[in-house]
Amino acid sequence: MGLWTDMTALYHLLVTPSVTATTHEERMERFYAPQIPTYDALRERMLQGRPRLLQAAGLHDGGVWIDYGTGTGLNLEGAAEQIPRLKKVYAVDISSSMLQASARRIARHGWRNVELVHADASTWEPPCPADSVTFFYSLTMMPQWQAALHRAHAALRRGGTLAAADFHLCDAHSAFTRWFWRTGLARDHVRPDPAMVARLAELAPGELFEGWAKIPYLPVMRAPYYVFAGRRAAEPA
Ligand SMILES: C[S@@+](CC[C@H](N)C(=O)[O-])C[C@H]1O[C@@H](n2cnc3c(N)ncnc32)[C@H](O)[C@@H]1O
Repeated sequence: MGLWTDMTALYHLLVTPSVTATTHEERMERFYAPQIPTYDALRERMLQGRPRLLQAAGLHDGGVWIDYGTGTGLNLEGAAEQIPRLKKVYAVDISSSMLQASARRIARHGWRNVELVHADASTWEPPCPADSVTFFYSLTMMPQWQAALHRAHAALRRGGTLAAADFHLCDAHSAFTRWFWRTGLARDHVRPDPAMVARLAELAPGELFEGWAKIPYLPVMRAPYYVFAGRRAAEPA
């Protein structure tokens, strides 16, 4: 069962033709809807940096957390012990299928302080300031990522934490690495841009971790990724 699930997930990522759509929402929905049953198992091992991101995200008792591009809610699962002690969690995603999977997870845990938000991160405004905002492998899938970061920064109270982890390409990587991953990820609608990390650091100065993630079943492959966490300045500059 596990192997079959993983192979189906890899098939979706590596073989299924890239979906076409008129809008970004439609594209994300068409891309993810068929993947829901197989999404979690492979992504848990493939998308590296979740514990590091959650540890650095500044989640604290009574705090408000916004998770942008929450998907099936794996970040919520990773923070399951903290969630009951938070005041509120907004789990935002543009794909309704992803949100349905997340809703099942929330129901299983009985969390009453987690609200699912079906919205585009680049336009949605939260009803109250957040103490922590996170993007876990979602920023690179947002065509309007600058606007999404602008919204996230505006949503953050002063001194709050902006944390992101994602695929990473920068000038330090070889031309082949940049070409290989840019081409490979683009078919799955993932578009890493070196400007993302630079913008994160501008908005919330902090710490950057860079690593190479093993890809399950593909032993020679390593995907470059980063985990960033910074704080919005406590006072206006
Ligand atoms: C690779 S998945 C990551 C999901 C989740 N964070 C995880 O840890 O598995 C990227 C997610 O970002 C969502 N997404 C992409 N563009 C978005 C946007 N503009 N606004 C909100 N969510 C978006 C997708 O629907 C998808 O659920």
